Amino acid sequence: MLNIPSQSFPAPSSQQRVSPSAQSGRNKVSLKPGHSLMDWIRFAKSGKDLTGLRGRLMEVTQDELQKHNKREDCWTCIRGMVYNVTPYMDYHPGGEEELMKAAGIDGTDLFDQVLCSTVSIHVYFGKH
Ligand code: HEM
Repeated sequence: MLNIPSQSFPAPSSQQRVSPSAQSGRNKVSLKPGHSLMDWIRFAKSGKDLTGLRGRLMEVTQDELQKHNKREDCWTCIRGMVYNVTPYMDYHPGGEEELMKAAGIDGTDLFDQVLCSTVSIHVYFGKH
């Protein structure tokens, strides 16, 4: 018997398909044009000061973290590292609303629960 795949390409469950979340069981949003993963990587490597600290590292207290809980000034903590996710909002595959759930707080559990962590955070924000 010939091994002819019965499914079309990409496969129905493939992440390459744009399908309503109810159908796929996932909650990814449609990103605006120019906001793909490749665009984010290009932007992150462009040399722009994305952290707002010009590459400086600082100790962040809980009080300080809490102050950065707005769309235009949003920090979150993942596994003990604090990230300025403000520039990432429009690039987040789960959408701005989801990312804002971790604004100003420790977002590790949320991050782990929703499969964001399938890829290392270093891929998105570089080594810290
Ligand atoms: C810096 C922090 C974060 C990064 C770098 C990040 C990154 C990502 C990435 C790469 C995906 C796509 C995963 C895939 O294609 O398999 C994703 C999806 C998603 N993220 Fe995040 N994420 C972050 C924080 C959060 C937080 C705090 C939430 C809050 C609940 C969240 C909610 C979601 C949701 C709902 C999805 C869609 C999951 C699905 O496909 O159903 N993310 N995120």
